[in-house]
Amino acid sequence: MSKEVQKLNLEELATFCKKKGFVFQAAEIYGGFAGFFDFGPLGVELKNNLKQLYWREFVHKRDDIVGQDGSIITNPKVWEASGHVATFGDMLLTTKDTKTKLRADHFIEDELNIAGDALGPKEIEDLIVKNNLKYNGEDFELPIQFFSGMLQTQIGADVTKQSKAYLRPETAQSIFPNFKSVAETSRQTLPFGITQIGKAYRNEISPRDFVFRCREFEQIEMEYFFNPEVETELFTKELEELKVQVLLAETQDNGKSDMVEKTLGQLVEENRINQIHAYWLGTFFNFFNKSVGLSWENLRIREHTKTELSHYSQATMDIDYKYSMGYKEMMGLAYRGNYDLSKHQEYSKTKMEVFDEATKSKVIPHVIEPSFGVERFMMAVIYESYTDDKERGNVVLSVKPSIAPYKVAVLPLVKKDPIGPKAKEIYDELIDEDIQAFYDESGSVGKRYARQDEIGTPYCITIDYETIEEGENKGTVTIRDRDSTNQVRVKVEEVSQIIRNLIREKIKFEDLQ
Ligand code: GAP
Repeated sequence: MSKEVQKLNLEELATFCKKKGFVFQAAEIYGGFAGFFDFGPLGVELKNNLKQLYWREFVHKRDDIVGQDGSIITNPKVWEASGHVATFGDMLLTTKDTKTKLRADHFIEDELNIAGDALGPKEIEDLIVKNNLKYNGEDFELPIQFFSGMLQTQIGADVTKQSKAYLRPETAQSIFPNFKSVAETSRQTLPFGITQIGKAYRNEISPRDFVFRCREFEQIEMEYFFNPEVETELFTKELEELKVQVLLAETQDNGKSDMVEKTLGQLVEENRINQIHAYWLGTFFNFFNKSVGLSWENLRIREHTKTELSHYSQATMDIDYKYSMGYKEMMGLAYRGNYDLSKHQEYSKTKMEVFDEATKSKVIPHVIEPSFGVERFMMAVIYESYTDDKERGNVVLSVKPSIAPYKVAVLPLVKKDPIGPKAKEIYDELIDEDIQAFYDESGSVGKRYARQDEIGTPYCITIDYETIEEGENKGTVTIRDRDSTNQVRVKVEEVSQIIRNLIREKIKFEDLQ
């Protein structure tokens, strides 16, 4: 897939997602609840498919990564050790009269049209003073305040200081405390990864941009543990030569946003990242492009500046996607060193070191952490695949078959016997074969094709009189391809195998013709 992203703005995207049953506002009948969303019938299928695709590629197909599923609420000491209680949050601006609260970096971004990510509190205060910035004519209370992003709750019947707990703001901290147990039970040795997918919660000051910035969202995170003393074998020549667009830290420090093209090898040579970091960047670029279908030109790397690095990070590179709001972070890849394991060792008094065969010594491993939100991932997939096809007269969502909510729709030409029952038989067989199928017998076939195009179903099977009657097409059905609208007739008994091979990209639709 290589085409320009459709100029679907955020409002249009939200409308499309609501209309088709991908995403609704949470509790819409009560006016919604800022920063919270519900996923409808198609949204949950698409999300599940994206998560499964990741799990298949990174857990099932590899023997150096295992999964886990940690609890959302855990011992609050985890968050003290990790530094989140003290430092996780945003810069808060409050207006002098009405006490309106704004996220400082977003305010600067909107007012001055510059990237706010790289700015610290002092720089923002200077910009406010220098440009005499106000909000609705009001001045701000300075200095800028720190606002904790941790969502709190109380556990148990007694409301005491001890009963305070947090909803996790990242899934990563479910992984670090389990590091030794997972390594021992899965018999993993360095280098290896632990990954998990799960909900995360942040008390965002200003949730915005549809599902891009929510208060409840889902993260896919991996901690890849390694010994920095040992050279990696993962960083192949092919990855070393991979060319990517990069927005460098120094460019942002100079207030600019021009990108340069670099190979991953150059980023390593320039000491911006180590080889394992580069390996994961390249691996995810390839995953997003080849397995998911996001086009290369809509992806870029953004290097974090020194002032914006998280408290745990030695180097962070984001993979940005070009949404309708411009390039924005879809994924972060941070080099967390051994910050987290060391902190948990210090606070829990539990040894976090492991024996590394390669150096015959004990080590507290370092980690590279790839981390991305399922909502931002899903948004990118919909942006990328949405086309308002004027010639066809309907929207076409050209998502890859492997992630499409439905893989195939079964459409009897008419409901009545013998066509309807035959179509039902084919539908049941597809479902039995674990192929997500949709049965639709209402409206003209053209309208039914259009409905499937709009929700991304790659193939439609039509059962007509020729399927039943005598003649050369007896015992055959039509498969119609969403992207080309071409059709072929295939034998009924071969249809589920053909659909399976098409979804797995073992055959191309053109091969059938
Ligand atoms: N463990 C590292 C970590 O949490 P992060 O950059 O704060 O790093 C990682 O978050 C990813 O989670 C982001 O790249 C983004 O895809 C997603 N994410 C973060 N905050 C989000 C929010 N408020 N709403 C939706 N997705 C969010």
